[in-house]
Amino acid sequence: MQVIVQPTSKDAVELVSYIIAERLRKKPHLVLGLATGRTMVPLYQRLVEMHKQENLDFSLAVTFNLDEYIGISSEHPGSYHYFMYNTFFRHINIDLRNTHIPNGMAKDIAKECKEYKEKIKDFGGIDLQLLSIGESGHIGFNEPLSSMFSRTREKALSPITIEQNKHLFPNPEEMPKRAITMGVGTILEANECIALVTGKHKSKILAESVEGPFTAMISATALQLHPNCIFVADEEAATDLKQKEYYRWIFENEPEWELFRQKMKK
Ligand code: GLP
Repeated sequence: MQVIVQPTSKDAVELVSYIIAERLRKKPHLVLGLATGRTMVPLYQRLVEMHKQENLDFSLAVTFNLDEYIGISSEHPGSYHYFMYNTFFRHINIDLRNTHIPNGMAKDIAKECKEYKEKIKDFGGIDLQLLSIGESGHIGFNEPLSSMFSRTREKALSPITIEQNKHLFPNPEEMPKRAITMGVGTILEANECIALVTGKHKSKILAESVEGPFTAMISATALQLHPNCIFVADEEAATDLKQKEYYRWIFENEPEWELFRQKMKK
């Protein structure tokens, strides 16, 4: 795992967008795992800008979203279908047939989960999985006690998550209490994971996720086991990290970051 600390959330978003653009230009049919939530909004906005101004091409890209609420339709403004289409997909040249989000309205949720899992395999697995962390320490909707070996399945949402996300619904009481989510095991199978974490309110959970002991109570700690995982945080989210100076040194000195150091200086 690597942790990169950037001065502001804008810089953190900029760095993650450069990494995604670089991976996509190298492999145009990249299989991209996508996340939702407020943290992702400026990142998708930046990628849209790169598409419009620098011809960043999504025409061959394939996407798989981490999760979706159960029991609300794709037209519901609180759904992740709605979020993805309006924040990202409709502004870029992606082929919508190549975008995948679990169907929370499926009659047979267990079957939907199984098929979602198989579809990821059919595309050869996820190349790059984008993540953020929720205040419960979840990745996707893998709430406390999620098994490290869990795969796509139905999950009951924790009170912390309901509190965190209900304000994203026009009527907060309408927020579903269950969701379909890729499992921790599914996420760990991605070739590369990038977690973007910004804001002071995430500083405690970021420190626990990155520097704390591995525990099923905080799903994000499972990323410590991933061989190719990068956390990109802003200074505010990094407040409680103990080894911040070391992480800073890595970004400033390691040859693998040279290209991105140059880009960030521009
Ligand atoms: C939701 C998503 C998570 C995401 C989290 C972060 O709960 N299921 O995948 O990481 O939001 O939310 P925010 O970025 O709004 O803090």
